[in-house]
Amino acid sequence: MYNRENFGSKLGAILAAAGSAVGLGNVWRFPIITGQNGGAAFIIIYVLCIFLLGLPIMISEFLIGRHTHANTAGAYRILSNGSAWKWVGRLGVFTGWFILCYYAVVGGWTIHYTYLSAVNAFAGVDAQEYGNIFTSFVSNPWLPALWLLVFIGVTHVVVVRGVRSGIEKFSKVMMPTLFIIVILLVVCSVMLPGAEQGIKFLLVPDFSKVTSEVVLQAMGQAFFSLSLGMGCLCTYASYFDKSTPLAKTALNVSFIDTVIAIMAGFIIFPSIFNIGMDPNEVGMGASLTFISLPNVFQKAFCDGSLLACVFSVMFYFLLFVAALTSTISLHEVATAYVSEEFNVSRRVGATVITCTVAVLGTLCALSFGPLSGITLFDMNIFELFDEFSGSILLPLSGMLIAIFAGWTLDRQLYRDEISNHGEIKAPYFKVLIICLRYVAPVAVCVVFLDKLGVFDFLK
Ligand code: TRP
Repeated sequence: MYNRENFGSKLGAILAAAGSAVGLGNVWRFPIITGQNGGAAFIIIYVLCIFLLGLPIMISEFLIGRHTHANTAGAYRILSNGSAWKWVGRLGVFTGWFILCYYAVVGGWTIHYTYLSAVNAFAGVDAQEYGNIFTSFVSNPWLPALWLLVFIGVTHVVVVRGVRSGIEKFSKVMMPTLFIIVILLVVCSVMLPGAEQGIKFLLVPDFSKVTSEVVLQAMGQAFFSLSLGMGCLCTYASYFDKSTPLAKTALNVSFIDTVIAIMAGFIIFPSIFNIGMDPNEVGMGASLTFISLPNVFQKAFCDGSLLACVFSVMFYFLLFVAALTSTISLHEVATAYVSEEFNVSRRVGATVITCTVAVLGTLCALSFGPLSGITLFDMNIFELFDEFSGSILLPLSGMLIAIFAGWTLDRQLYRDEISNHGEIKAPYFKVLIICLRYVAPVAVCVVFLDKLGVFDFLK
């Protein structure tokens, strides 16, 4: 057993885990795939995915972490009794570290865009210019690397301070802040003329758009958005105390994550419709966030006005906070691993991780500029990190975790942990086990095969 701290309160535990879940995915992917894939029809499918797939896996990750009170690699080693399943934990740690290297680069971009908004750099800019602003920033020889280092530095400072006075305290301040910003942005956005159309686009159900492809997207998004499949939640749960109710905590975290994702849609679509832009042409991910939206916000709130400036600053600051609480959870997975498995202090563990991420992250950060010549399969370093983790590492590790939790964990252990040794009633136990053994592993395998391109191949 390791010598370790716990979260000081149940609220702190929920906010920390919600901080991991609420990230860029909520803002730059969820609203767009919802709008384009049938609005409320998509949301219904998404919520079903959360119940049938997300919650069972989240509860299992919580359980694995809390039962062993160990870092992810240690937890799987303890529970695998010497079998090869111990590699699943190590794969999870590696995946988290790998994702961290490029996720932090985007975190750096959010700082730069907060800064650009604050100095009113978007005022009076021509719609076509936004693409150039973004391209010239990411291809700058040093600026993206500088912001990456700042971002990872802030992450480091929080992680080094420990679970209670670092992660928990920070989440308790930042998550409510994030909530307030989201509400302010939603209020401003839905008051714009034409906002109803945006809300309609997001919410009116259109079941004719629901295809097997859409269901697959919903499963993949649920999985990514809840931070499943690589030990973030398992590591955080290892700091839960014995009285934390696992199922209820998982429900709270999923609820917060989904509500914020839907609210992000209420921020984005009213302004897009307000300026009469085609919502199918705003793109997704980085092109939406850093090219379409700065323009949309400027035009929707009177170009150059103070309101446009404040709205834009708040939006990018929101992205910054959302990304930061997620990178903290990714960093913690690796820090807990290094410090516990190699028996070094938390400070040394965190420093090792920060240094490696700073080096690899810098390579990613500069891969649109000075290092753009380094490519493989037509992708630069950043794109390779993104593709390799998103299409292979994460689905693979998620699939193995689902199978491990469903098929090898002892059922009695499961029942004991879920019910806190008989203290909480768990009438849903049987349904949970069925989801865990059959539904979740099959669903995650299908997502994995889809990401590998097997279905495209079959077509
Ligand atoms: N859930 C976060 C988002 O929505 C990203 C994230 C953080 C993540 N940790 C993760 C995704 C672990 C998968 C696994 O952006």
